[in-house]
Amino acid sequence: MEKLYHLLYPMRVCLITSRAAGKDNIMAASWVFPLSFEPAMFGVSVSPKRYSFDLIRKGKAFGINIPDPALKEAVMICGTKSGKETDKFVEAKLTKEEGKHVPLIKECPVSIECEVVSENASGDHVVFVGKAIDVKKRSGAKGLYQARDGFIEV
Ligand SMILES: Cc1cc2nc3c(=O)[nH]c(=O)nc-3n(C[C@H](O)[C@H](O)[C@H](O)COP(=O)(O)O)c2cc1C
Repeated sequence: MEKLYHLLYPMRVCLITSRAAGKDNIMAASWVFPLSFEPAMFGVSVSPKRYSFDLIRKGKAFGINIPDPALKEAVMICGTKSGKETDKFVEAKLTKEEGKHVPLIKECPVSIECEVVSENASGDHVVFVGKAIDVKKRSGAKGLYQARDGFIEV
């Protein structure tokens, strides 16, 4: 079938950070969405094939880091390589900033740290629902959006 999710694009790309058992990781994710005003809650839909899936499940937390267009190459590394094989903080040249449970990304204009409150199987992905426990706003910048063919900067 046609990729129906493409009908919703462009979607903002985020970098999801996670930590468990002494391992830190980053993955690119466009399927990230607000769920509640108060408390502030967010969902991220993650395939169980991702290394991040195991880390988020075990660590019960994730960081939503919003990259600006200057980080496009880093986003591609984080969205195509697996943390099972490489340290993406090193390979994508991104700097860790300690959050309460997970590392956050210093180069991103905004980072929101969430504690997982539930997970819901959703077809071939799992939606982790997180309650925001902290936000870091570093500088204003344009956003990077995933489009059907590449990226759009807005
Ligand atoms: C722009 C972009 C958006 C992505 N969005 C998602 C997403 O929302 N959910 C998901 O499970 N994978 C998504 N991916 C794929 C993962 O980022 C990719 O499989 C990554 O290598 C997983 O890394 P990990 O194995 O270290 O967790 C996306 C990839 C790109 C390039």
